Amino acid sequence: MDFDKVIQERKSVRCFKNKIVNFGTVIEAIDSAIQGPFAGNFNNLKFVIVESEKTIDNIAKQASQTWINQAPTLIIVCSEDMHLENQYGARGKDYARQQAGAAIATILMKLTDLGLSSCWVGAFNYEIVKEMLKIPAHVHIEAIIPVGYEKGSLKKPRKTPIEGVLRWENWNTTRRPPLFREAPMHGVPD
Ligand SMILES: Cc1cc2nc3c(=O)[nH]c(=O)nc-3n(C[C@H](O)[C@H](O)[C@H](O)COP(=O)(O)O)c2cc1C
Repeated sequence: MDFDKVIQERKSVRCFKNKIVNFGTVIEAIDSAIQGPFAGNFNNLKFVIVESEKTIDNIAKQASQTWINQAPTLIIVCSEDMHLENQYGARGKDYARQQAGAAIATILMKLTDLGLSSCWVGAFNYEIVKEMLKIPAHVHIEAIIPVGYEKGSLKKPRKTPIEGVLRWENWNTTRRPPLFREAPMHGVPD
């Protein structure tokens, strides 16, 4: 799929068809995510793939989000901070969260590209889900990603317009100052 189309089509889906997802497709999406940037190229992430209906149902209950039980597959994104903290001190903890966020975004995009739907789920009973999945104490659950085929066709919510998010040179300047040379036109030799 065209890159811009993937960005536009990615949306949070919370209603899924009763249709199995090929685990190879899920692995493909995870494989895309681990090609991304990592501080010192240290990958702190692990991914628990859950396909058991019973476990999915329990996780949906522990998230108080019953729609999750419609998803045939969940990806539980986990991270370990220890190596990054040893290497980068307190900042290593930030890096761990940032690396997970970047990987989650890549997974959502790649799943979209592969014709699947998903949602980033951050609200759930953290300790109980950790225990349920036998995740060690030092490992952090970053997100749960239910994956499936969309039932219906929900409209993606409107986003903040571009002018609402830009600043120029410093926080206080919302308009581009007339300081800079214009970039050369595409196709025009320097
Ligand atoms: C950190 C984070 C946590 C989220 N947690 C949940 C969640 O627990 N349940 C849910 O339904 N959506 C959750 N979302 C999805 C957002 O609600 C969604 O991205 C937002 O409404 C924008 O819609 P869109 O993803 O379709 O563009 C979460 C998103 C992020 C980034």
